Amino acid sequence: MGINGEKILNNIVLIGFMGCGKTTIGKKLSNEFKYNFIDTDNSIKNKEKDILEIFDTKGESYFRECETELLKELLSENIENSVISTGGGMPLKLNNRDYLSKLGTIVYLKADANTIFNRIKGDNSRPLLRENNSLEKIIDMLAYRDYIYEDLANIIIHTDNLSENEIVSIIKNKVLKENL
Ligand code: S3P
Repeated sequence: MGINGEKILNNIVLIGFMGCGKTTIGKKLSNEFKYNFIDTDNSIKNKEKDILEIFDTKGESYFRECETELLKELLSENIENSVISTGGGMPLKLNNRDYLSKLGTIVYLKADANTIFNRIKGDNSRPLLRENNSLEKIIDMLAYRDYIYEDLANIIIHTDNLSENEIVSIIKNKVLKENL
């Protein structure tokens, strides 16, 4: 139960900055737990259109509304047994943070700006970093977001020096402990 007595579902919710590995780790984790895998960017893409196109034609605020709608839907369907990889900006809205907490155990895949920069420097599929994906821009965005992610998370994993398999096994152990 949450602090206000509301039900918390048994999903695992991965949060973190763009390029921190939410999708890759999420898929592996869902195999480990024999859970379904949900990628919120993908769900929005399937319902609407490509994320880049949404940003270009309808703007970021419309995309943020889609994110909120999707979270409401997942909660109203009471989805369980799922690993949910979220878009990096999902926790920015206060009400989204509340919805995310009700969906399950929140795991923050923390990575430092250099690690993120090296992962995404050649990739221009992310609208917010398309024009400027410099290390400075990432440092700037991360400075604002990091404490939001930390504050929301039940579990924080410092991923910088870990392999994907190590991250998955650490999360698995911690989630199991958390839910004992
Ligand atoms: C965003 C992150 C992206 C995607 C959109 C906005 C963000 O997802 O939702 O481009 O604001 O951080 P990833 O974190 O999967 O790249």
